[in-house]
Amino acid sequence: MQTPVTIVILAAGLGTRMKSRKAKVLHRAGGRTLVEHVVATAREFAPSERIFVVVGHQAEQVRQVLAPQGVGFIEQKEQKGTGHAVLMGRDVLSPLGGFLVILYGDCPLLQPDTLRRLIAQAEAGKAAGVLLTAIMDDPTGYGRVVRGEGGHVAAIVEQKAATPEQLQIREANMGIYCYRAEHFWKHAGEIRPNNPAKEYYLTDMVEILNRAGQFLEAIQVADPQEVLGINNRVELALVDRVFRDRKVRELMLNGVTIEKPETVSIDSRVSIGIDTVVEPFAQILGNTAIGENCRVGACSILQDCTVLDNVEIGAFTIAGTSRIESGARIGPFARLRMENQVDAGAHVGNFVELKKTHLGAGAKANHLAYLGDAEIGARSNIGAGTITCNYDGVHKHVTKIGEGVFVGSNNTLVAPLEIEPGAYLAAGSTITEPVPADALALGRARQSLKPEWAKKRRALSKK
Ligand code: UD1
Ligand code: CA
Repeated sequence: MQTPVTIVILAAGLGTRMKSRKAKVLHRAGGRTLVEHVVATAREFAPSERIFVVVGHQAEQVRQVLAPQGVGFIEQKEQKGTGHAVLMGRDVLSPLGGFLVILYGDCPLLQPDTLRRLIAQAEAGKAAGVLLTAIMDDPTGYGRVVRGEGGHVAAIVEQKAATPEQLQIREANMGIYCYRAEHFWKHAGEIRPNNPAKEYYLTDMVEILNRAGQFLEAIQVADPQEVLGINNRVELALVDRVFRDRKVRELMLNGVTIEKPETVSIDSRVSIGIDTVVEPFAQILGNTAIGENCRVGACSILQDCTVLDNVEIGAFTIAGTSRIESGARIGPFARLRMENQVDAGAHVGNFVELKKTHLGAGAKANHLAYLGDAEIGARSNIGAGTITCNYDGVHKHVTKIGEGVFVGSNNTLVAPLEIEPGAYLAAGSTITEPVPADALALGRARQSLKPEWAKKRRALSKK
């Protein structure tokens, strides 16, 4: 039998020290907003109907970011302290019973294993609550954990209220708790703003429950870095670094080669298959999924892309929301702007830009081209300098090129346009009319010659 868990995530504060117009929990680390990380951890322990986020500053934006998760929200209009934040949810939270777990939206590095230990400790014992603490070299700013009889927690004293002796205590409160909901809600109303800040401190629950004849326990987190709360942008960068390190480590242990891993940025949700090599300074972001045995070139940026197996992505390629199929070769210096599909074995070379374009299997655009709103058949060859003129100043139009078409260098393809399979377009053409299958189209001025013209011109200028 397992006690059901309800999780409340405090995320109402602005975070003044961020010096931002944006609420703290909306800042990003590891490719996601801080609060999304915390919700992701929470979801390992409770269904979304039992997860609640306390919102205040920029409540609407926080709700929007979390909408896909299906979690509940508790409004805290004025931020009158951590205790006040939880009390705002009393009506929805207290009937749910079980355990009440409290997390912070600005503390995204917390590992599921630690939370598992916290809940297991609550489950195993009779304590009214278990809190997470850490022994810190410098606990300045944190609440100090005062231990009493039998190692039970007697009180948490905030930095400002602590006596000189209490300030010597190196065990700090991480602000993460697992309470028995029944005991918590029975006494939560007793929290009073009896402190210089006139705030309702959640930490007062420790003494309140002790007075009511209950006891509290604490477990220590092995690595205090895991519960690092973010207060400013220096800490934000530090946390981002930790997320990046965790991710590359996980990938490397699962068979991905990452060269100079300290230089790459790979978001939490990215997946990469075995024997793929990621070169230095690559950024692999968002929902990108990469198959096996690929190469992601140095300084490439892939955002929300799907890449199948055996794909070579050359250095300095930038790709967004595109699908690249097996054995394709992209870059170096290619730009796949958005919503492209590159079929198996196709090549996209240097300084080629694709936008909403489907490049068929084995088709090649090896140098210097813009292909927008284009459908290009299998095995077609797009010469250097080819441009699809997809925009007439008002609307976008489609260029359709069949299979096995040869587009000579420097073609200007004025859309809407259809080139049927097997056609040839002569180099330097401006093509404005449909081209039937297997035809040759020439769309350029015929060359004229003036023999000896240059020689005469030079002779004239010498006089
Ligand atoms: C709190 C603890 C302290 C602990 C520290 C760990 C209290 C009184 N103190 O202090 O013992 O060492 O966390 O990081 O609880 N929040 C709201 N509404 C509010 C106030 C805060 O949602 O009215 C949210 C904040 O957005 C933040 C979290 O609660 O995410 C923590 O609040 P903060 O003011 O940073 O608490 P600390 O002073 O750090
Ligand atoms: Ca804090």
